[in-house]
Amino acid sequence: MQIDVFTLVPHAFAWLTEQRPVATVLGTELDLRLFGYRDTTPLANGQVDDAPYGGGAGMVLRVDVAAAALDAVYGGVPDHRVIALTPQGRQLDQSVVAELAGEERITLLSARFEGFDERIVTHLCSDAISVGPYVLSGGELPAMVVIDAVARLLPGALAEGSAERETFSPELEGGFEYPQFTRPPEFRGWGVPEVLLSGDHGRIEGWRREQSRARTVS
Ligand SMILES: C[S@@+](CC[C@H](N)C(=O)[O-])C[C@H]1O[C@@H](n2cnc3c(N)ncnc32)[C@H](O)[C@@H]1O
Repeated sequence: MQIDVFTLVPHAFAWLTEQRPVATVLGTELDLRLFGYRDTTPLANGQVDDAPYGGGAGMVLRVDVAAAALDAVYGGVPDHRVIALTPQGRQLDQSVVAELAGEERITLLSARFEGFDERIVTHLCSDAISVGPYVLSGGELPAMVVIDAVARLLPGALAEGSAERETFSPELEGGFEYPQFTRPPEFRGWGVPEVLLSGDHGRIEGWRREQSRARTVS
């Protein structure tokens, strides 16, 4: 899968590319390309944004700058999905992540400050996605959220079986994962459920399913 990100801060992604699971699939299942709007802006002095028409605070990412960035990479608007990251978009959840992971290529456009000139979203993008109902200062963290969540679903990203029974997986009927515990068996008087120490796999499995259902409905 290829994920292209257009951003004002390409170097912000360095950390992500060193972390698993992204690092594990980079160069094999995942081709991640980062493009800076300033590298292709048609404006002088690396300008990428401007004051909003009608007045108001902040600066808006210019449509000619976003179009020039897409032209430089694709020679126009590409025919794969081009996604504007905006708090006004369709909310990301595990089913949207699975949908994106099924694509061969996606492009993520991020903005900062006051956001996009609306013509970017309307004419240059096919979708708009929000990572949650809150406002962040830029699209870089949302892009990293999308990349990390999608990378987990790519072949070989995770150890065998570790994604099969996690929160939102079909194995757990789309619900929450059961509680997990590890050593020590007692700490400050806080114990571990006896069933998990019993070695009885049938009981453990039953307890986990029960816990998963109880957590999901509460
Ligand atoms: C400060 S926000 C702009 C908010 C915009 N003025 C509004 O009121 O809707 C700057 C940029 O951060 C990114 N961003 C902020 N919150 C986001 C979210 N919840 N999901 C996706 N992107 C977000 C977007 O790229 C957005 O254009």
